[in-house]
Amino acid sequence: MSKYPSLLVAWALAIVIATPTLAGKKLGLGREATPQEVAAWDIDVRPDGLGLPKGKGTVAQGEEIFQAQCAVCHGEFGEGKDRWPAIAGGLGSLKNDRPDKTVGSFWPYPTIVFDYVRRAMPFGNAQSLSPDELYALTAYILFLNDVTKDPKLELNEGNLAKVKMPNAATFHDDDREKTEKSFWNKQPCMKDCKKTVEVLGRARVLDVTPESKTAPRVD
Ligand code: HEC
Repeated sequence: MSKYPSLLVAWALAIVIATPTLAGKKLGLGREATPQEVAAWDIDVRPDGLGLPKGKGTVAQGEEIFQAQCAVCHGEFGEGKDRWPAIAGGLGSLKNDRPDKTVGSFWPYPTIVFDYVRRAMPFGNAQSLSPDELYALTAYILFLNDVTKDPKLELNEGNLAKVKMPNAATFHDDDREKTEKSFWNKQPCMKDCKKTVEVLGRARVLDVTPESKTAPRVD
């Protein structure tokens, strides 16, 4: 029983924290976020390009910024250095045992490059790049991935969303309501169900952890 009062307090506090405007007016706590503060958070870019800021940048400009701020981790050609991630290559590898999921091989929309780099890169100095630098970097990353073969490409808020990505067609809307209709049963079977679980293999028999030739044997 003693748990419940503290849970209620935590819940009430969560509401106060989650609704600063309401709290500011009704409870005299906090203040409304300023338009600048809201704008600083509101940086998402949609697949159709909504949210892209004004700006422009070319492959060549992007190359210069990439070599100065990104290549130390991602390699000069986006191939990845040491254990930092590759962001180019891997086209056609998605069905392999170890797929190479890069911008070119996996990502469905070009705007994700802009959005992701804007919010997260360079690693350790995120959100330090200007819109022009971001368009230039996006152009260079798409060029590294052969998504565009035009070295003179200039990207801007009008043409970025129109770039077609190689893996776009394999993404589709969530269709689980249709394809998994059999699971959405109002009265799920709880007893003597027709379909019984069939054990197809056991990890020990399948030998999922092959022994190393040098390390001690583990059973
Ligand atoms: C200090 C190392 C470092 C630097 C410098 C850096 N990155 Fe990254 N980058 C990372 C790491 C680590 C990740 C993976 C982050 C994660 O998965 O959470 C990443 C992820 C990415 C990805 C997504 C990769 C994927 O397929 O998920 C892109 C695109 C990218 N970085 C672009 C850039 C650009 C452009 C710059 C330069 C402006 C840059 N990075 C600078 C370390 C770095």
